[in-house]
Amino acid sequence: RILILDFGSQYSQLIARRVREAGVYCELHPWDMEEAAIREFSPNGLILSGGPESTTAEGAPVAHPLLFELGVPVLGICYGMQTMARQLGGSVEISDRHEYGYAQVRAHGHTPLLKDIEDHASPEGYGLLDVWMSHGDRVSELPAGFKLMASTDSAPIAGIADVERHFYGLQFHPEVTHTNQGQRIIERFVHEICGCRRLWTPENIIDESIDQIRQQVGDDEVVLGLSGGVDSSVVAALLHKAIGDQLTCVFVDNGLLRHLEGEQVMATFAEHMGIRVIRVDAEDLFLGKLKGVSDPEEKRKIIGNTFIDVFDTEAGKLTNAAWLAQGTIYPDVIESAGAKTGKAHLIKSHHNVGGLPENMKLKLCEPLRELFKDEVRKIGVELGLPFDMVYRHPFPGPGLGVRILGEVKKEYADLLRLADAIYIEELRKHELYDKVSQAFTVFMPVKSVGVTGDGRRYQYVVALRAVETIDFMTARWAHLPYEFLDHVSRRIVNEIDGISRVVYDITGKPPGTIEWE
Ligand code: XMP
Repeated sequence: RILILDFGSQYSQLIARRVREAGVYCELHPWDMEEAAIREFSPNGLILSGGPESTTAEGAPVAHPLLFELGVPVLGICYGMQTMARQLGGSVEISDRHEYGYAQVRAHGHTPLLKDIEDHASPEGYGLLDVWMSHGDRVSELPAGFKLMASTDSAPIAGIADVERHFYGLQFHPEVTHTNQGQRIIERFVHEICGCRRLWTPENIIDESIDQIRQQVGDDEVVLGLSGGVDSSVVAALLHKAIGDQLTCVFVDNGLLRHLEGEQVMATFAEHMGIRVIRVDAEDLFLGKLKGVSDPEEKRKIIGNTFIDVFDTEAGKLTNAAWLAQGTIYPDVIESAGAKTGKAHLIKSHHNVGGLPENMKLKLCEPLRELFKDEVRKIGVELGLPFDMVYRHPFPGPGLGVRILGEVKKEYADLLRLADAIYIEELRKHELYDKVSQAFTVFMPVKSVGVTGDGRRYQYVVALRAVETIDFMTARWAHLPYEFLDHVSRRIVNEIDGISRVVYDITGKPPGTIEWE
């Protein structure tokens, strides 16, 4: 296992994902992790991440000296290499030539880390690597025992190696996909230099999780809020495999779900997998509470609180339940723990379950706490969940409640569901669904005049939205083919009595958000 110490780089989580992709378990912890915890983790290798600060600044974070005495390989990336260089007797200078983005590195092929890894061969006999750089400072003097491993024009020391002690430093970022050979470099480090085997596979993750769950809950009963989203679905499948009938799921139909979603959840989990699922039909309750409310945040609050009420009531009837299962995943744990403050154990607040009645005293069972989203998806498929469910676009907790602009009414929700189902069906049929990151339909409670055949129509408008994004923080509107949009628009207006006009949203984020509310 690999320990990654986080000096605050925006890419730190990516390092962890790359190591996991190499089939090796790793954890990401703040740079000032306690000595005892480091020893307890007992890593086979260490990676020091990049970071926004300058190692030359007063009070800048440094690596625990213990790290260089554990006798295990160390890979310092960017800031991680600079602090390692300084701490082991080299120097770092503030450079006037900043380097951001693409760069070509000359790799001296003699070190185990970069040997035979190159994008191009140079006439001088160097290997050339296309990499991603992002730094101001640079190492100016090698520490004792280190050799030059790579260089660029603006960073003559872009890679350093002490082969004997297995200490390596890279000024560029192998974890970023723009570094073509990045994954190979990470694999070289964790497999060959640290000697970790490729044991972190979906099958092994499942086997280990099952053992852990059985140990944790014993013969107790567990309750899970099942939403049909990826995380809670995978928790359901995993728990069912681990503890069978000790699991009861509560699925709340709030009337704001997608077309046939409730039926699909029941078909998959209850009928197909034989899981006990209590379906609560709470459409009237939710729509009743939303009556007359048009402010988006107010709607979110009502939907969230009503969910908690309904879930608590149902879970409270399961008097034997001792555990509440949740689909918390690793990025939630890292984020809620904060970069430095440590161990705060937060309940996933933006997601469904909030508080439970005091008298229930449920303990938390979070079997996905160590997994990234892509790992959750892989074990979901391995557990037999339908591929389309596991790779579905994200759907907000408040559901159609924030896709119907202004006041929510059943009539609007029913029309929106139909239009959205046509849009998604066509996206899949045209093999565009997996090319966009999120696509959905928005309902506008305004009427527009149309004409079909001899008749004049005066009906509602829907907007189609599709975006491409990596992190959902920024997004580009998807340039879907005109013929495709034309086809979807015709189908919606022809097939749905109640909608007479379709528009396409061409706003990016920023300045827009992905959802309309
Ligand atoms: P925005 O609209 O903020 O959306 O650009 C970014 C991503 O977050 C999702 N989203 C939500 N998810 N509860 C959720 O669970 C919400 O209230 C919520 N609002 C937005 C949105 O679908 C997109 O994927």
